[in-house]
Amino acid sequence: PSEVDCVPSSLRLYQGFWFPSWLLNSVVACQNHFQAHPSDILLVTSPKCGTTWLKAILFALMNRAKYSDSYSQKRHPLLTQNPHDLVPFLEFRLYLQNKNPDLTAFTSPRLLATHLPYSSLPRSVRDSNCKLVYLCRNPKDTFISMWHYFNKLRPEEKGQLPLPEALDKFCRGVSWCGPYWDHVLGYHKASSEMPEKVLFMKYEEMKADPSVQVRRLADFMGRPFSEEELRNGTVEGILRMCSFDNLSALEVNRSGKLPTGLENKWFFRKGEVGDCVNYMSAEMGERIDGVMEEKLHGSGLKF
Ligand code: A3P
Repeated sequence: PSEVDCVPSSLRLYQGFWFPSWLLNSVVACQNHFQAHPSDILLVTSPKCGTTWLKAILFALMNRAKYSDSYSQKRHPLLTQNPHDLVPFLEFRLYLQNKNPDLTAFTSPRLLATHLPYSSLPRSVRDSNCKLVYLCRNPKDTFISMWHYFNKLRPEEKGQLPLPEALDKFCRGVSWCGPYWDHVLGYHKASSEMPEKVLFMKYEEMKADPSVQVRRLADFMGRPFSEEELRNGTVEGILRMCSFDNLSALEVNRSGKLPTGLENKWFFRKGEVGDCVNYMSAEMGERIDGVMEEKLHGSGLKF
């Protein structure tokens, strides 16, 4: 089928991937109109892979010189603005609000984000020298995070989305911007072919050794940390600022909303690795593992 009723909205198959039907015009507008600049940095994720966290880190990394002393640290934009406002999505924000938005107000280098699969990126993104940072996550935690998120979007009287039903769809590839494995594989391949253009990152590696990963990110973006920065704790400062505990406790992230009506606090749930075991039976976990193993076979990629 090319259309499936998938709470909270029907999903349509477009260029091999499932998108909420209300997003399609925006995806097409973005594909037709977005002009990448060579200095752009685009964060790419599947939903629920840690986008909010990496948006905050990218913003803090790029703007670290501006907010380096304690006076300016107190005025850091991340303290009063949600990461999704600071690093906006193309199709889920800019092109959803306007078919051909004026992006001239963005100062270079522009920090933008997208959930689009590699094969559906606007041509100019693939053709220009802009950089892509791709973050993926263990499929079981991604799935559980997504399930929680969609339960928030459901009308209260409907209760929770039955987990086995959601799992079945996920394993058949029917999930937002899914099949999940095709999304990941597209960027994994691009990253091995063009490592200077696409940086491939994993949520679990960020959690395990964030300072190594943030330095890797800074190097990739052409903004490596200086010896002085490494000595004076700049990396640790960025990680503290962007930590789950810090961001989730900020008033803006506890009470604000995005223009689409989504509540900022919904982007912060637990922020842990392995939470899936608290919701899925061993059998359910094995089903996802089996599908992923089959789909990733031969790619060199493992979760
Ligand atoms: P959980 O639901 O497993 O807690 P996205 O930003 O792509 O929507 O992903 C949301 C997931 O990232 C949620 O996962 C959320 O809790 C987690 N997350 C948000 N901010 C985080 C942070 N600063 N550090 C680690 N994880 C974070």
